[in-house]
Amino acid sequence: MKITSKQLREKWLSFYEGKGHVDIGAVSLIGDGSTGVMFNVAGMQPLMPYLLGKKHPDGKRLCNVQGCVRTVDIESVGDASHFTFFEMMGNWSLGDYFKKEKTAWTFELLTKVFGLEKDKLCVTVFEGNESAPRDDETAELLKNLGIASEHIYFLPKSDNWWELEGTVGTPCGPDNEWFYPLDAGKKNPVFPDDYVEIGNDVYMQYKKKETGYEPLENKNVDTGFGFDRMLLFLNGLSDGYKTDLFAPVIEELERVSGRKYGAGEDTKAMRIIADHTRTAVMLIGDEQGIQPSNTGAGYILRRLMRRAIRYCRQLGVESSAMLGAAKIFIEKIYGEAYPRLLEKEEYVLGEIKKEADRFEATLAQGIKEFEKCVTSLERKNEFMLKSNPSYVKETVIGGKQAFRLYDTYGFPLELTEELARENGLTVDEQGFEAAFAEHREKSRVLAAGQFKGGLESGSETATKYHTATHLLNAALKIVCSSDIQQKGSNINEERLRFDFNFARKLTPEEVESVEKLINEQIKLNVPVVLKEMSLEEARDGGFVGVFGNKYGETVKTYSIGEFSKEICGGPHVASTGELGTFKITKQENVSAGIKRIKAILK
Ligand code: ALA
Repeated sequence: MKITSKQLREKWLSFYEGKGHVDIGAVSLIGDGSTGVMFNVAGMQPLMPYLLGKKHPDGKRLCNVQGCVRTVDIESVGDASHFTFFEMMGNWSLGDYFKKEKTAWTFELLTKVFGLEKDKLCVTVFEGNESAPRDDETAELLKNLGIASEHIYFLPKSDNWWELEGTVGTPCGPDNEWFYPLDAGKKNPVFPDDYVEIGNDVYMQYKKKETGYEPLENKNVDTGFGFDRMLLFLNGLSDGYKTDLFAPVIEELERVSGRKYGAGEDTKAMRIIADHTRTAVMLIGDEQGIQPSNTGAGYILRRLMRRAIRYCRQLGVESSAMLGAAKIFIEKIYGEAYPRLLEKEEYVLGEIKKEADRFEATLAQGIKEFEKCVTSLERKNEFMLKSNPSYVKETVIGGKQAFRLYDTYGFPLELTEELARENGLTVDEQGFEAAFAEHREKSRVLAAGQFKGGLESGSETATKYHTATHLLNAALKIVCSSDIQQKGSNINEERLRFDFNFARKLTPEEVESVEKLINEQIKLNVPVVLKEMSLEEARDGGFVGVFGNKYGETVKTYSIGEFSKEICGGPHVASTGELGTFKITKQENVSAGIKRIKAILK
């Protein structure tokens, strides 16, 4: 290796520390709920309040190496350069220096510290639109640094504007992106075919509105360079699994499987197992570590792990191969940069093993079941073709069958779709959703039947408001204070009312975050699960009780994924998707220290 991951980490940080930046370290991978983004997808995400103007305790010049999780490209993992976890090397100016210093420093770092050839660099710059002008200033600065004008490209918003998709009220702006030929030895590389993006400098000077943008008071810089990408690149490699962030794990997978890493299906399987195991280690071992579950972030983790487990099977190894891989990630690769992983090693490995055991118990049967679906489709096609030669073959796995695989064998829809693809088939997604909805309705009727008797008001609307109250209780704890407790609740056909201990009214931002969190849970359509258990068990399991100790020996508990866990008599909807849209309509002062929220479901 020309440069190791350890050296790259140090070089990035020391270069920016040399320019007066403070290394602020990395924060949790789990999003804080304020943007509705589940994971940290960029180094700037935790810094949002500061980019919007809040004063940062470490000053105006910051840098770090921050872990990020992006799962939108999960289908592409298996090739040489897509990962679900990666680190981003970042640095920031919070209303301090701007374009002049930034372009000069990025240029200096790339050419002097990392030794890239100035004549091979290409930079793209924002071409301007109705929201912001063309960035001639940056282009001029780049030229003055010695970058030829033919290597500077003006591109539209789709290329040179950075913002967190799907959010409002977040900082954003035009950026310039730095490119270098992947094969640096190539004589006359052509942009963009031979080039890869190695990082970008965003000039965060706008705030995203519902429509359009408004200028921020501060002109900020937000720089992000992909750590994994840079490492591969600086070592003249074209396969990310050959850097020291993966190589020892790939060797281990070769060893246990007796197969070779190189090309083809085994290679794809090894990459998927390695990538997904790394992300699982990082998410479970995170400071706000999550566990695989059926909702939210926990479900994404479960999907990743189940996908990896299936590829273990394909590679002809037990799912314990993931444990071997996880151990190497923790002990040999990431332990030094993330000491927490070493501390939590036993726990992380335990969680991986639990999920592997859970899924392995049904995986083989599920695959058999899937194969049955394929065989019956083939039989039908054969039969039909015999009697009608112009019959068009059916190539879709039914939604009910996909739902059965989900419900009985724990197959995430994507897994069934992936298996289908490998067989030249597709899955009826709408049919899957419909089967899901039908199942929900059946459980709701069942649940409502079980709980008649115990209701204040057993109407469907009241039941919905009951569940919404649980979501509100949980969301307030996240957004406002973990000390918040329910002090009273009242439900009628029109609205819910919720009293809780809090010193002041919620700010408009807090109201928005609470609504966002709840509506996110509704969108995720999380099942509401009833379990009876002893009071002790419930307390140990983190269920919150509402009114002190008036419960009997056994209590009913309701959990909405990991989001809400309450001791409660019910009734509740079968899953959150039934609730509609949650909106806070009013805040009132009940007494000193007790506030009241009224909210509706639309
Ligand atoms: N926020 C920019 C990115 O994520 C730096 O690429």
